[in-house]
Formats: sequence, structure tokens, C-alpha cells
Amino acid sequence: MKQETPRIDSQRLWESLEDMACIGALPSGGCRRLSLSDEDQAARDVFAEWCREAGCEMHVDGFGNQFAVRTGRVPNAPLVLFGSHLDTQPNGGRYDGIYGVLAGLELMRTLAVNGVETDRSLAVVNWTNEEGVRFSPGLTGSKGFAGAISEEELGALKTPEGASFLSELERIGYLGRPPAFKVASYFEAHIEQGPILEAAELSVGVVNGVQGVRWFEVVVTGADRHAGTTPMSMRADSYMASARIALAVRERLLALTPDIRVTIGRVDVKPGSVNTVPGETTFSIDLRHPSTEILDEAEALIKALATQEATAEACAVRTVRTFNLPPVRFNAGCVELVASMAQAASLPTIEMVSGAMHDACALSTVAPTAMIFTACRGGISHSEDEFAEPEDLAAGCQLLLDVVLSAARIV
Ligand code: GLV
Ligand code: MN
Ligand code: MN
Repeated sequence: MKQETPRIDSQRLWESLEDMACIGALPSGGCRRLSLSDEDQAARDVFAEWCREAGCEMHVDGFGNQFAVRTGRVPNAPLVLFGSHLDTQPNGGRYDGIYGVLAGLELMRTLAVNGVETDRSLAVVNWTNEEGVRFSPGLTGSKGFAGAISEEELGALKTPEGASFLSELERIGYLGRPPAFKVASYFEAHIEQGPILEAAELSVGVVNGVQGVRWFEVVVTGADRHAGTTPMSMRADSYMASARIALAVRERLLALTPDIRVTIGRVDVKPGSVNTVPGETTFSIDLRHPSTEILDEAEALIKALATQEATAEACAVRTVRTFNLPPVRFNAGCVELVASMAQAASLPTIEMVSGAMHDACALSTVAPTAMIFTACRGGISHSEDEFAEPEDLAAGCQLLLDVVLSAARIV
């Protein structure tokens, strides 16, 4: 006999998002919950408490990832995993990552209230340090879980101030052991963080992949000189050289392809004195595109332009790639499952590629994976202005439940 799928409680989902947003709340409605900070610890504690109340058992692994497991009828079968991250950007929103974790919790609550049993066990996960703000780069927990971070790399991971990832994990009480379970499939619900769904007047999108991401550190070296006495023609100004590099990179990469994304989000000017020509400037570049060939071309251009513009300002430059996430294509079967469940629920969708990176990228290397996107207002994210409509979030959460119940069946 066909069992009716239970309905999630959209009000309960919304309230849990509102309650979580109180931890690390910022004045304009956003959140600052940097990974392994006191605020992150508080969020983890609350999440664990909510999961236990929903009948789940909590596990923490050696990367601080939190897993809330709901045991199925076949406890030793690989489980169905879903979730996202609770850490935020410095001036972050209430939904980026948080929605995927709390949608997973809402799913667990719905199954508990309705007394639904599944064949496979289910687990909702909160991945550690997705955002990569305190510890750069991001995706630490999910990459670690996928076996893509060596012990050496983990040991060397530090904040700019020198606090180590492992000691911070220990400090907040979230250094655990490897989990004993295997993953049958992974699903991540997330706000889109871009404008496509809103423009198409759709609540939900089926994500079939993620564009590639490369990060660079550029160090421009000139010479510290007196700001008042040194003629403009006798300077090696590392900041002026950096500004030239920034503008040249934007112009040339846009000429390469208009759908490129290039961002300089962090600049450190030394010695940082008003009346000294700065001798050293270090800045970041975040580069994104769905094609590896375009990324290769753009990387070569960045390196050539950095040398050209630095030389023109009598400076030297070193450009180092610090992070590389190749473009990801999700599992066709999982993507099809999400699309077919949406269709069965008469929920209109489109297939799309994610502009942002997600923990799902790391998971896709070890388990069949797909993502569900929900619309967000103005496509705005990584900002306190981030907002998503409760109805869109509820539609994505219900779709996640439908997908997970189907994936949990052993036929
Ligand atoms: C994740 O937040 C990203 O940088 O895409
Ligand atoms: Mn996110
Ligand atoms: Mn983010």
C-alpha cells in the first residue's frame, strides 16, 4: 500500500531559523558566527539539543562535523545524509547554510511526530567551516569527511592570528572521532544566493552542478618610503601596483567572457601608515567559472597581468594559487530523483548550475549527490540583507523530505 508522505511544518521551520539567528545576531538582521568561535559553539549546542529532542543520536567526527542520526530498519546499510553549515560570513545572513541544516532538522521532527520509519538510517549534518573566513580556505569539514585533507594540512590550518583549527575545535568541545557509518547518498538544500529563481518566479531549483572556484594570494613588493618627501617618479608603491592589477584583471577577464566572476575581497597594506608609501600589499583573488578551460585561461591572464602592472610601478609580484575546486557535475540519478519528486508534487522547477560552492562539492567525490535550491530575495547573499520567503523555504524542505524518503527505501 502506498504511504502518504508526511507534511513538514513550515511555521516550525521558520521559528527554528529565527531562533538560530539570535546567536551571533548583527544590528541589521544578519549573523556573525565564524567557524569555531564562541557563537559557533552556541549554535552547535542548540542544534544538538534540538536533534536529541527529535529522537536523533549525536556524533561528532575529527573535523568537528556534527551528525544527528535517526536509526532505520536496516541500521547497517549505508545511510542517507543531508545538511549544510551553521557558520557564517563576517556580515552574513540568516539562511546561507543554516537553512540546509534546519531543513534537515525539520525533516527529522516531521518523521518523529508522524512515527515514520525508514529502511536506511538518516542523518542530518552540520559541516565545519564551510565559509573559510577564520580558517582559509573553506569546506574543511566536508573535504575532511571525503578524505581530501591530510593530517599535515589539518595540523597546519590556522587563523591569521595563529590559533590552530584543532586547538579551537578542542576549546569549543567539538573534537570527535571518525564516524562508523557509510553514506548511500547526500542531498543539500540551500538558498540559491543568486537571482535566477526569483526572476523565473520559481520557489525551487534542481542543482546539477557547481562552477569551478580558484583562489589566489598576490603579494606585491615595493619599498617603504616617506609620503611627503619621495617624488612620485621615485616610488615603488605596492598599493598603486595592486590597484592597477585589480582594474586590469577585471577588464581583461570580462573581455575573455562576460560570465566570469572575479573578486578581490581582502587587501592588506603594509606598513599601514598614512604617511608611508606602502612597501608590501597582499590581496586575495576569488575566480569562478563553470569551464576548466576558461579558468585555465583566466589564471594565466591573472599571472601575466600581475607581472605586467607590478613591473610598471617598479614593484615585484608573487601570485600563488591557494585553492582549487574544479567544476562539479552531480550524480545524474540523484539529480533525476530531485526533479522527479518535484514533478510528482506538481512543483515547477528548472535545472541549474550553482554559482556558489557548497559542501555538496566535497561529498560528490564520495557519494551520489544532488542539491535543492530555493529562491532568495534579490539574489542577495553574504550580506545582512539576505532574505528568503517562508513559503519558498517550506517548498524546498518538503521536496527534501520527499527525496530523502525515496532514497531511504531499500528495494
Ligand atoms: C561559499 O560561500 C562560496 O564562497 O561560494
Ligand atoms: Mn553556504
Ligand atoms: Mn556562504
